[in-house]
Amino acid sequence: MTETKNLLTIKEASVWATDFLGKSVTPSNIAYLINYGRILKTGKNGTTLIPEQELVDYYETYQREIVWKKKLGDDLNWALSFEQYTESETTKHVHRLHPYKGKFIPQLVEYFLGNHTDKFKTETFFKKGDIVLDPFCGSGTTLVQANELGINAIGIDISAFNALISNIKVKKVNLARLQTCINDISNWLRKFTSEQSNVEFETKLTEYLNKYNNKFFPSPEFKIQVRKKEIDEKSHAAKHEAIVLKKYNEVISLYDIKLKQKKSERFLDKWFIESVREEIDFVSEQIKRVKSKEIHDVLTVILSRTIRSCRATTHADLATLVEPVTTTYYCAKHGKICKPLFTIVSWWERYSADTVKRLAQFDNLRTDTQQICLNGDSTNIDILTELKKKNKDLAKLAKTQKIRGIFSSPPYVGLIDYHEQHAYAYDLFGFERRDAQEIGAMHKKQSRQAQADYAKGIANVLNNCRRFLAEDFDVFLVANDKYNLYPQIAEDAKMQIVNQYKRPVLNRTEKDKGAYSEIIFHLKGR
Ligand SMILES: C[S@@+](CC[C@H](N)C(=O)[O-])C[C@H]1O[C@@H](n2cnc3c(N)ncnc32)[C@H](O)[C@@H]1O
Repeated sequence: MTETKNLLTIKEASVWATDFLGKSVTPSNIAYLINYGRILKTGKNGTTLIPEQELVDYYETYQREIVWKKKLGDDLNWALSFEQYTESETTKHVHRLHPYKGKFIPQLVEYFLGNHTDKFKTETFFKKGDIVLDPFCGSGTTLVQANELGINAIGIDISAFNALISNIKVKKVNLARLQTCINDISNWLRKFTSEQSNVEFETKLTEYLNKYNNKFFPSPEFKIQVRKKEIDEKSHAAKHEAIVLKKYNEVISLYDIKLKQKKSERFLDKWFIESVREEIDFVSEQIKRVKSKEIHDVLTVILSRTIRSCRATTHADLATLVEPVTTTYYCAKHGKICKPLFTIVSWWERYSADTVKRLAQFDNLRTDTQQICLNGDSTNIDILTELKKKNKDLAKLAKTQKIRGIFSSPPYVGLIDYHEQHAYAYDLFGFERRDAQEIGAMHKKQSRQAQADYAKGIANVLNNCRRFLAEDFDVFLVANDKYNLYPQIAEDAKMQIVNQYKRPVLNRTEKDKGAYSEIIFHLKGR
């Protein structure tokens, strides 16, 4: 780093970076870079100052567009990167009610459903009052954005839990009554935990770890020292992990905390410390007693989100479980010693408040339109018959005016198990699993046979849904077609690909490593 005298506050740095990149960089973006040791700060007496040269060094290497085009080709449509959006915008209001791996960003849906045009998209495909169909509805992104834009929407998903997540996002719920139920359950839960030793144990352990980490893993200095190779992370971590573990084992026996449950057959038996499991069962029983279906469903999703955060695993393995972890451990993600959870109370309360807040935010944007996700197999579901059982008005509308088109992101070949990613929720709430009908599931792998089955499955979905579409329909499919299957899929569905948009994927909520692009295929009937 070249020394300069120019020192900026966090706010000034955000203005500087916004100017440099031509896109919004917030003070919290800058604070994040400092915390993670990417930018070095100076400053005395509690003020944080950043040398301007630090910013120059960091942002010069940040010219993403050039780097990505080198990797993925010059035909990449950078306008579809939506890189100007911050994470809080791509996970705005109800889009973050529950984690879901494989979600697309709302701005992408908005781009295709809305009336915005540019040199790539020269027409408007959907207008207010139309119906859009998403036969791979997932966590309901299409439904939510359709609502914002005044468009009706029907979703279908094979996973009962995904259909539930989608529906609680779009269904209007009485927030005052929801808050009352949350307060009641939280009070009962606090009373329940006051009779157990796990909460006191966890408070003591947290205090101890905070002190220990401040001393031996100070933030952000520790990460900076590791990055500069002044500390060997591996040996430093191993040494302190062992010291803390010894202390941990002593206190565990002092408080008589049971780490493992007696059985380990079910997901709930294996992946939760006993005290956490007891609390989960307790809250689940309270939710069962709630009479209003809408409120019951929202509470179910809050509890599911809570237990996902409380699984006995490391922070690094939350997205893909490896083995249960029931002791303190060195966490490379946070650069300090972390611990598993012994109580769900704080997550339950945090997610409850967050859910109410997000639902209220969406209420302010809602249009008077209808959206619903059906739980079924898109290769053969009779949309009108199933819709009639759930929403007669929308069924009538779909029958008379027909569905205008499809906007959807089908699963990719052998990449994600959509049922398994929410195994804890299936186990706790007892939803029926239909893994065998899940197209492109990871457990079905990526062999030639798997690719052929996948292509057949997607073509079957298009053929089945076509019966309900208007004559001059438009179909948009977001795909990562690395096996070049979509030309054949279009052929088998008697459709033609009339356009392709290639977009870089930057803003993924569950960040996996590596650059990759998606194609949005635009299909019409033949
Ligand atoms: C890529 S995800 C969709 C994500 C969605 N666009 C979102 O933003 O949340 C694909 C979805 O297709 C669903 N799926 C797989 N096979 C299906 C089938 N036969 N019928 C209906 N849905 C299916 C999976 O359960 C998964 O939720």
